Amino acid sequence: MRASHLEDYYSFLRFPSVSTDAQYAGKVTACAEWLVKKLSDIGLETKLVPTPGHPVIWAKNKHQPGRRTVMIYGHYDVQPPDPLDLWDSPPFEPILKDGYVFARGATDNKGQILSHILGVQEALEQHGDLPVNLHFVIEGEEEIGSGNLGDFLSENKEALRCDVAVVSDTGMVKRGVPTLSYGLRGVTALEVKVTGAKIDLHSGVFGGSVANPITALVRLLATLHDDKGHVAIEGFYDKVKPLEDWERKAWRELPLNGDEEILKETGAPALFGEEGYNTLERLWGRPTAEINGIGGGYQGVGTKTVIASHAMAKLTFRLVPDQQGDEILNLATRHLEKHLPPGVTMEITRGHSGPWYLTDPHSPVGQAAQRALREAFGKDPALIREGGSIPIVSQFRTILGVETLLLGLALPDCRAHSPNENFPLENMDAGIRLNKAVLAELAKR
Ligand code: BES
Ligand code: ZN
Repeated sequence: MRASHLEDYYSFLRFPSVSTDAQYAGKVTACAEWLVKKLSDIGLETKLVPTPGHPVIWAKNKHQPGRRTVMIYGHYDVQPPDPLDLWDSPPFEPILKDGYVFARGATDNKGQILSHILGVQEALEQHGDLPVNLHFVIEGEEEIGSGNLGDFLSENKEALRCDVAVVSDTGMVKRGVPTLSYGLRGVTALEVKVTGAKIDLHSGVFGGSVANPITALVRLLATLHDDKGHVAIEGFYDKVKPLEDWERKAWRELPLNGDEEILKETGAPALFGEEGYNTLERLWGRPTAEINGIGGGYQGVGTKTVIASHAMAKLTFRLVPDQQGDEILNLATRHLEKHLPPGVTMEITRGHSGPWYLTDPHSPVGQAAQRALREAFGKDPALIREGGSIPIVSQFRTILGVETLLLGLALPDCRAHSPNENFPLENMDAGIRLNKAVLAELAKR
């Protein structure tokens, strides 16, 4: 890979573009401005489009009538780097070790979207033009649910008219095996706060006389699942489409040992999940209820004899076809209200949500994607669904009327969202080849 490509990559990674935390807002904008410069420098007409949140970057080549139009989407925002002390090197000071670059965003999504930018750069240098009309749409709010991107799409619907969307923000089943993802889970979030007394109390003076909100909260959270790993919210599975036999069979034949990989990568002592399904089915085809955070009471050193006034938990639900985010939040709210132990009050706040996505990997554009993956990696692609979510993808369909090709470059051990996130330079190279191949394949009529 060219030295200048690596420099670009490092510059991009040095911005702590953490979208969720207002304290980083200036850095998010600086990162957006860097992208505008990079995309302009390679010859694209580029705009920074402000939103009520973080800006969207929109770049295009000179469009010509009669050509296919492709939109490449990615995000320049990243997850918080916490917990910082678990990183072997600082998260925003990229370093190269054994062919892998370590930094927050190395894979998710800076490495992957940059490979498309560099692919376009090389093609423009070589041929002065691309085989298609291209839009780059690169946003700064994917990791917080893409709340403002839908409006951007609606407002620019005509100007963004395209035939297909291409996204590299998903995984590969393993190193060297190209992967076309034809489904994503959706996600929807809520926060629950349980309150007892109006102030923290002495647990000797008051203990036994009033309800403890932490006890109430953990009892409440314990009602979310049964012993067999099923979600116990009434109606939760009502809209879930059963997995089809062909799909279960195809997943069993994939070139990966999901169980072993997951045990190794997570370090968990055993696998656990919904009874009646294997690991890939649980991950790709079944919904979940997760407790992502919990807090309340004294967490300092030593002991404090206190009854906290409140306790809170953050929950998310991963959704599959044909579940609907709002409906799931309604059912969850009803469940929490019904099971709330006595003596406390509860407040529920709804968070962001993004729908699931399912497309046909054998459609004409799906086949073009498969050919491009074969060309870039020299191997037949695996066809999979994903457990993760990319909230805007379903709106590419509902607002722009296009299907999305999910051509992921993330390795199973990339540590996205975790300490020591990394991306191999071989995948940057593969991504550059993939970009050229997919634009060439999609240009064919
Ligand atoms: N790149 C991921 C999505 C992803 C991860 C897809 C793994 C497939 C496999 C994306 O950046 C992400 O993390 N999305 C969030 C969305 C949420 C914050 C609304 C997710 O899935 O948690
Ligand atoms: Zn992410």
